[in-house]
Amino acid sequence: MHVEEFIPNTPQKKIGEGSVGFTSPSNIALVKYWGKKPHQIPANPSISFTLNNCKTETFLRYTPKTSDGFSFEVYLDGKKQPEFRPKIEQFFERISIYSPFLANFHFDIETTNTFPHSSGIASSASGMSALAMCIVALEALVYEDSDAQFLKRKASFLARLGSGSACRSIEGGFVVWGAHSSILGSSDLEGVAFPFEVHEVFKDYQDAILLVDKGEKQVSSSVGHNLMHNHPFAKERFQQAHDHLDALIPILKSGDLNAFIHIIEREALTLHAMMMSSDPYFILMKPNTLKVINTLWSFRKETQIPICFTLDAGANVHVLYPKRYATEVEQFIQNKLSGYCQNGQYILDHVGKGVEPIKI
Ligand code: PMV
Repeated sequence: MHVEEFIPNTPQKKIGEGSVGFTSPSNIALVKYWGKKPHQIPANPSISFTLNNCKTETFLRYTPKTSDGFSFEVYLDGKKQPEFRPKIEQFFERISIYSPFLANFHFDIETTNTFPHSSGIASSASGMSALAMCIVALEALVYEDSDAQFLKRKASFLARLGSGSACRSIEGGFVVWGAHSSILGSSDLEGVAFPFEVHEVFKDYQDAILLVDKGEKQVSSSVGHNLMHNHPFAKERFQQAHDHLDALIPILKSGDLNAFIHIIEREALTLHAMMMSSDPYFILMKPNTLKVINTLWSFRKETQIPICFTLDAGANVHVLYPKRYATEVEQFIQNKLSGYCQNGQYILDHVGKGVEPIKI
């Protein structure tokens, strides 16, 4: 593995205080990452698309310091969040070899999410990628000769060390993470833009996120990933992810929606099947998750509208559909599916761009 290219080898410049800011989107995986090796290396490749409306906005305010160690405060919506400290501390420790200047500053990390607080939507992908992008923006000030394309790659590399799937939120659109033999340039270390042709239908694909359960997950993703070690079906599952990604390449090009639906739903259900067959086993779906899926299947059968669902590591359901069916599908969601959501809540989103700087 070529992690060396991410270790700076030029002298640091002295800079004064200042701030940088970025927005970064959440992403939804089509082929799922579930299971990892040490150093946040995925056990299988995955592909996702970045969203447009579910974003984190982060400002990193930096003040030079001379004392040893990391010094930072984290704020969410202007309020100090001491409970976020351990995760950020661990992130800083993991990346300090790649960003040695971190110890030279005190940081105020100010963050807000555009999606409702405690909506059950993981903010780790958008949050960690926004923070990673802020850190490389600071790196560009601390080292000379940092080029923009390299810094974006490095942001993905660092984001991965904060939360695996966060590395797929730097680039926009369809992003692959994890080495795959058919995808030149794919890497276990960073997310890369899907390098093949994508049919028009997928360029503005819609994702309605149904908030079935907004509570804290009973089993965290990290525990779930770890349970793939010694999982009786791990080997077959990892191979299936490679095969699904291979199959998606021509499907994303041709726009074959039936074939797309088949893979996407199989991925979602396999992810949860892995959870249900882990030892210890667990279930993250709720009764309303299944009600949504069955109602969606009936709607698809009756109307022949090519909608499908995917799931992440939780009870919420992502309903995916082409933009040209937005009116009918959104009516169906409002009339039939919103009743299965907590307080009737859902978020309409679609394929979006990756990280973007915030003018300060
Ligand atoms: O990035 P993590 O460690 O929160 O894991 C994310 C795992 C899934 O959302 C279930 C799948 C994926 O590829 O995003």
